[in-house]
Amino acid sequence: MNWFIILSLFFIWNFQQCHCCMKWKRSADNCECPDIRDRYIDKWNEIKGYCCMKIRRSVDICDCPDIRDRDDNRNEINKTELWYTEGPGCARNLSCGIHYRTFLAFNFHESENPLPDAASDPFAEALSTLDLYHDTPPARTLNLFSYYGIICENKDWYATKYPLGFAYNGTDYKRKYMATGGEYKGSKSRVWLFTCKMPREFL
Ligand SMILES: *[C@@H]1O[C@H](CO)[C@@H](O)[C@H](O)[C@H]1NC(C)=O
Ligand SMILES: *[C@@H]1O[C@H](CO)[C@@H](O)[C@H](O)[C@H]1NC(C)=O
Ligand SMILES: *[C@@H]1O[C@H](CO)[C@@H](O)[C@H](O)[C@H]1NC(C)=O
Repeated sequence: MNWFIILSLFFIWNFQQCHCCMKWKRSADNCECPDIRDRYIDKWNEIKGYCCMKIRRSVDICDCPDIRDRDDNRNEINKTELWYTEGPGCARNLSCGIHYRTFLAFNFHESENPLPDAASDPFAEALSTLDLYHDTPPARTLNLFSYYGIICENKDWYATKYPLGFAYNGTDYKRKYMATGGEYKGSKSRVWLFTCKMPREFL
């Protein structure tokens, strides 16, 4: 009888420990999303050009492989140049640093934003400024996480805010703008890439 009580107590204690440990793990666990800094890309136009050339030759949907893995396009990303801090869970600050323009690229096929009819490819750039000329003053520094409302879901990063909308390339070769009043707030798009541009660098 004594043994039975001791054994029961032991099991109860064990269960409590485990329960407690699971709870602790759930609240303070590590984020399930990958390091978002690995989605930094430098040569957006070249990459987009390459990818779209490929689509036109093959399928309609631009389901390009992860071009960041290609040796000739690999960025020598210097993560220390980005302002980045991690908080509990998936809380993050990510910023390009002083005097950079920022943009985030997504693929309409991985987005709840509707693909426009006359788009040459399914990529869009969510902008931090609509002022894209060479002589414009530097754009303000922004935290991508709050500006684009980036969240972690199903082990991936999604933008949910597009304060100035997004730009895409039309079939008439013209750059088109969409939802520049931030209309698609709440609509999710997988963060494909992001980039930081120097003040005088054309997007
Ligand atoms: C990376 O950037 C930091 C900050 O700008 C700089 O101090 C460091 O030398 C750079 N590292 C490389 C390998 O370029
Ligand atoms: C983001 O930066 C702000 C201001 O420096 C800081 O108070 C906050 O704790 C940071 N959050 C994360 C998740 O790093
Ligand atoms: C924009 O679309 C035109 C026409 O389809 C294409 O020739 C051009 O390469 C595209 N530009 C970019 C940057 O994707």
